[in-house]
Amino acid sequence: MDKPRDEVDWSAIRSDFPILGERAHGHPLIYFDSAATSQKPRAVIDALRDYYEHTNANVHRGLHVLSSRATEAYERSRERVAQYLGAASAEEIVFTRGTTESINLVAQSWGGKFLREGDVILLTEMEHHSNLVPWQLIAQRVGARLRFVPVRDDGTLALEELPSLLTDEVKLFAFTHVSNSLGTINPVAELCRKARAAGVLTLVDAAQSAGHLPLNVQELGCDFLAFSGHKMCAPTGIGALYGRAEVLDSIPPWQGGGEMIVGVTLEKSTFKKAPHRFEAGTPHIAGAIGLAAAIDYIEQIGRAQIFEHDARLAQHAIEGMTALAGMRILGPAGQRGAIVGFVMNAVHPHDLTTFADRQGLALRGGHHCNQPLMKKFGLPGTTRASFYFYNTIEEVDRMIEILRAAVRFFA
Ligand SMILES: Cc1ncc(COP(=O)(O)O)c(C=O)c1O
Repeated sequence: MDKPRDEVDWSAIRSDFPILGERAHGHPLIYFDSAATSQKPRAVIDALRDYYEHTNANVHRGLHVLSSRATEAYERSRERVAQYLGAASAEEIVFTRGTTESINLVAQSWGGKFLREGDVILLTEMEHHSNLVPWQLIAQRVGARLRFVPVRDDGTLALEELPSLLTDEVKLFAFTHVSNSLGTINPVAELCRKARAAGVLTLVDAAQSAGHLPLNVQELGCDFLAFSGHKMCAPTGIGALYGRAEVLDSIPPWQGGGEMIVGVTLEKSTFKKAPHRFEAGTPHIAGAIGLAAAIDYIEQIGRAQIFEHDARLAQHAIEGMTALAGMRILGPAGQRGAIVGFVMNAVHPHDLTTFADRQGLALRGGHHCNQPLMKKFGLPGTTRASFYFYNTIEEVDRMIEILRAAVRFFA
């Protein structure tokens, strides 16, 4: 049974993150840039050190103690990811460098095999460039087209348009779970259900949700799901692609090399089954082990508790920010992820982010890899505060003070 949010010792959790004790420009660091990358708890840092001190060897090929240990730990991590996502089996988990690589794998491998001229890939206007550019590339290669679910002014998807968008030409619908600029939480299960009813495969970009809220791929009913470890306490350079077994088994390798073959002659090769045929070359073994440690850490807190905590921070931030002169907050008024994107009349996002940094507050300013969305809203960019479970209400209050000071400074 999950603990209620109030029973989690949030301040003890902070002390698990050594970096949160840093100072920036003489001020205690306030890190509100977790949507870009999260900080890492000691449990993950220790797991990496432990791996290199006691286990390090290449996987799958060696007949010695360390290689067996490394292989077991690597494959155990795959099982851990499968459990975490609610996948039917570990064979449905491909380790990748992260969300971007996972989506490129599907675009190149699935798209390369199944997409034909005139086919349509349905996306939304709120996609991160990672869930847009790979589709542009494959569409150009095979003569397919892209179509988009519009975003309404309040930052939600125009779902009423879905029936007219999900036509026979649509072969795949790829969309984000949580928007990295707006904080919008899309109704994934509903979108997957509608796509499946129309015979359309789905890919969920879970970069901003996998570490923030409970999710289960079988309950969501998606065919693919991509996420990045570094946004959920794990090291950079590791992430995964979930692919429903039937779909994953139907697609060819996308990169060739060692590890992914059964046999090789000078002329041709035969390939392992999924997921191994998608993991050419030496994988990020330490990263996979770090990812499993991050999952253990997150689950010990509880994803429902993390979501509630993050939502409370976002809500508190919005209440305080709404009172500031010339403030426009993007995204839905109701439930949202741990992300608050905003613009202030008085100051350009880059200047504001620099101003905040001088006070020890790490925000992010710019287009957040959402250039088409920014264009739609008529903005050059926004400033974004993004929270995680190690942030506090006091830090949010300090941010409001800094923003208030910015209004005075730039007036
Ligand atoms: C919604 C979304 N999708 C994809 C990505 C890309 O993730 P990565 O750079 O880890 O591959 C991000 C990163 O910010 C994101 O926010």
